[in-house]
Amino acid sequence: MNNEAQTPIPMSFAILRNTHEVFRSSISLMSDMLERGELHKFRQEWGNYQRCRRTHLSMEDGAVFPLLDEIGSGAISEAGLAQEHVVDLQNAERVGNASTSEETAQAFETWKKHQLEHLAHEEKVMGPLTMKTSATPEGRGQVVHDTLLLPALEHGDFDWYLAFTIERLTAFGTTNQPPNVAVRVYAWGLQHAATPAEWSEWKEIVRSNTSEEIWDEMVTQFQIDGDGKIKD
Ligand SMILES: [Fe+2]
Ligand SMILES: [Fe+2]
Repeated sequence: MNNEAQTPIPMSFAILRNTHEVFRSSISLMSDMLERGELHKFRQEWGNYQRCRRTHLSMEDGAVFPLLDEIGSGAISEAGLAQEHVVDLQNAERVGNASTSEETAQAFETWKKHQLEHLAHEEKVMGPLTMKTSATPEGRGQVVHDTLLLPALEHGDFDWYLAFTIERLTAFGTTNQPPNVAVRVYAWGLQHAATPAEWSEWKEIVRSNTSEEIWDEMVTQFQIDGDGKIKD
């Protein structure tokens, strides 16, 4: 097993995993906003969340879910992950339609509980299966490109999604990773799932949404300013 602290390997599926961490930090921001009665700020952040989530869903439903279902002999269907998305969107609609602070807070609590459980459930079910998609980090980079990134690009909001994700990982890191590690794990994984043409655009989005310090560290230690690693 890879010991990330000692011998980092590029992990392209971290694109999904670290986006979950962006969701968690956003949920915590929104909880604080509601507690302080900042409904206007809450609605802005709610809009960010749902926008980021739509790109994330384009990587899962009809994209990586069918592949992992096949590899895991129906494990994704059995876990009901796609059905959890349906419930999530129903719960989210109630938050979006709430008019008063009280209604919003109540709908948000219901949505939040289900959403946090969903993120953890996916990590538990999907994590081991992602490692079975290919024996090498390079092979998994290709799978992530073809199975996650192409549908996300077709969805059409990838640049905004990438900017938002990098900005939030830079600001908050993840539960287990300080910001420099959180950004590097995501960006390095993305570089290994990108063609040279794609990476030449995406690395500029990474650079302009992280700190100079983190960018410099990624350049020195991980050649993040080099080419995308998969074939055009
Ligand atoms: Fe999901
Ligand atoms: Fe997810």
